[in-house]
Order: sequence, then structure tokens, then C-alpha cells
Amino acid sequence: MKPLDLTPDDERLVQVFRALGNPMRFRILQVLAAQRACICGDLVDLLPLAQSTVSEHLKVLKTADLVQGTIAGPTTCYCIAPATLAGLRDRVARLFRDPAADDRCSDHERSTPMTSSSSTDPNAIKAAVSARYAARARQQLIPPETLPLAQDAACCGPATALEAPACSSGTCGIGYRAEDLAGLPASVTGVSLGCGNPVGLAEVQPGETVLDLGSGGGIDCFLAARRVGPAGRVIGVDMTPEMVRLARANARQLAAENVEFRLGEIEHLPVDPGTVDLVISNCVVNLAPDKGAVFREVYRVLRPGGRLVIADTVASRSVPAALRERLDLWGQCISGALDRETYLATLREAGFARIEVLAEHDLARGDLDGDLALLSLTVRACKPA
Ligand SMILES: C[S@@+](CC[C@H](N)C(=O)[O-])C[C@H]1O[C@@H](n2cnc3c(N)ncnc32)[C@H](O)[C@@H]1O
Repeated sequence: MKPLDLTPDDERLVQVFRALGNPMRFRILQVLAAQRACICGDLVDLLPLAQSTVSEHLKVLKTADLVQGTIAGPTTCYCIAPATLAGLRDRVARLFRDPAADDRCSDHERSTPMTSSSSTDPNAIKAAVSARYAARARQQLIPPETLPLAQDAACCGPATALEAPACSSGTCGIGYRAEDLAGLPASVTGVSLGCGNPVGLAEVQPGETVLDLGSGGGIDCFLAARRVGPAGRVIGVDMTPEMVRLARANARQLAAENVEFRLGEIEHLPVDPGTVDLVISNCVVNLAPDKGAVFREVYRVLRPGGRLVIADTVASRSVPAALRERLDLWGQCISGALDRETYLATLREAGFARIEVLAEHDLARGDLDGDLALLSLTVRACKPA
């Protein structure tokens, strides 16, 4: 028989269909898509299968890039790989399109790589980012006996050479003092995913209203809440429902009455104009596809004379297109990092004044792209009075 002339993309599609062509694997994907389980043990509880069989199925799904696993301590949390699914939708649509009804089915389009159009789509980026942090929050919500100890929980540890040097391992040395963290439970410190300590540099005053962009499990909100005291208040905004759920559970545990968590996107803040004294954020703005929109929203909600103190990941130079198109690297604070000068210029364009860099340090990194380096930058800026 003549060998089939399949492109690598076609072969990948065949691999995906082969992985899906098993009812149990299909069911596992449905369970993961509904976010009813994340670790292998949870799947075993839901499905009539032995642990070893579930592991085998997960391996096939992973090889086909249909699911991705994030290692945290002794467990791996699996979730649907949004990049593959977005690409798959396009490929299948192209495969079954009626060429007579649609003349866009050209040679050029057939050879377009699976990821290019979908991976730079802001919605696909947000879905990938949110899926990653939802998985992270769910890990924290698993039974307490499997939670890491508070002192090393802040150090998520990279899963691969490229895995999250910025958002996870950097947390070990990002500037929190032991006395700041004293009294915070592991369900807060264990999901600290920032790259700096904005509260430590923001000179938070009693009575102030503070807004945290991308509050995650709430660590910076709880630190700010101590400083604003009972006359002040802190609002955390995060787009990932699981993170908001975790943060609210943490607030209940800490009886933090001056803190609230709202579900929302930092590009469309669920906050009234001119009502905030201080905006903080820790390793989040880089994850937003449109940084200009974020800074304009921050400007809108700050009162005149209000300030921002934001820690974020920036790059030593422009991140190359090949990395920017990798959806998996968006969630790891790599693909969306602006170079330092563009970051500061974007703040200026949004109307901010007195922009100063308060802290800057290198972040550990895998082999990204030649001399490309990632930095943690903590910047302060004011909305003119
Ligand atoms: C790297 S974690 C940092 C969490 C927290 N600031 C900390 O220091 O632990 C990023 C968080 O930002 C949230 N996030 C990312 N992009 C967002 C967006 N566009 N709008 C709202 N939240 C976002 C994610 O859901 C996640 O909880």
C-alpha cells in the first residue's frame, strides 16, 4: 500500500480522534470539561475504573494534547488543554466544510497552522489563563491532609523547564517578610502566585480603599486589610470563579470583614469610578491581552490623586511571536510580558504621572529564547489630582 501523504497537522488530528475514540476517555474529558475533578484520584471516585486504567487513559489524552497536567507537590492536576480545543474546532470545521458552498477553502487556508489564528485571540488567551488558575485553585481546595505545609507552599516549583518561572518559583524570594505572612493559613500562602510584594511598598494608610487586580487566593488583599484597618476596605477582583471561591473561603476563615472578592475582568472592573485610593496587583497585568485597557480602567476607578503600586513580569526585550502564540505560556506569565519600556509607556498613555520603578529583580527562567530574560518590576504611578 502506498504510504499516506499526511501533514504533521493531519497526523496530530488523527491522534486526537484516536484518543477520543474510546468511550471512557471521552467520559474523562467530559468530567474534566465540567471541572468536576482534576486529580486522578477524584476521577477514580467518579468513574467505574481502577486508578491504573484512569492513569493510562490520561496518558493517551495528554499525548494527544487534549489535557494538560500541572504538577503541584505530590499530585498532578489535569485539565482540558484550551489551546488544543480551540485549534481542534478550527481544524474540524475546515475538514468538513463544503468547498462548493465556501470558496475560502483555499490551499493557503488548508496549510495555516492550527494555533496561529486562535492562539492570539484574546478570548482563547483568557480561557487558557483562567483554566490554569482554576486548576491551581482547585488544588488548594482539595482535602487538607494533602495540602502542602505553609512554609514551602508558596513555592509551587516548575513542572518543566519552561514551566512558570515567573509566577511560581519566584514567589519564594519575592519580598514577603516572615512576619507579614504570620497568621495566614496555608490555603492563602499556598496559593501565593505573585512576583513581588506590592503591599510592602505601597505605604497603605488606615481607612484607605484598596483594589487588588487578579487577587487569586487573596494573599495581598489580606495583607492590605490589616493595614487599612476597620475603617478601610479592600476589594479583590479575579476572573476565575474557582479563585474567587477560594478567596472568599479564606476571608471567612480569617474573619476578614473589611475584604470582599468580586468576580470580574480587570479590563472591565466591577468598581465605581473615582472610588479607590490605591490599586495594587501582583503578577497579573501581564496575563491580560490588552494592557492599555487595564490601565485605563485603573485610571477610571482611582480617585484624583490616587495611586497604583503594581508588581508584574516584564521582559528584557520584545517577546518573539513564536512564544506569544503559545497559549500554554500565557498562563505562565511569559507570552504576555511586555518589554520594560513599553510597559512604562502604556502606563503613561493611560494618563498616569510620577511613574517610578520601586523594585526590580530577575526571575528564574527556563530556556526561553536566546538572551530573553524575565524581570519582576514593581512600579508606582499616580492619577493627577
Ligand atoms: C499569577 S496569579 C496571581 C494571583 C495573586 N495576585 C497572587 O499574588 O497570588 C494571576 C491571577 O490573575 C487572574 N487573572 C488573570 N487575568 C485576569 C483578567 N484579565 N482579569 C481578572 N483576573 C485575571 C487569574 O485568575 C489568577 O487568579
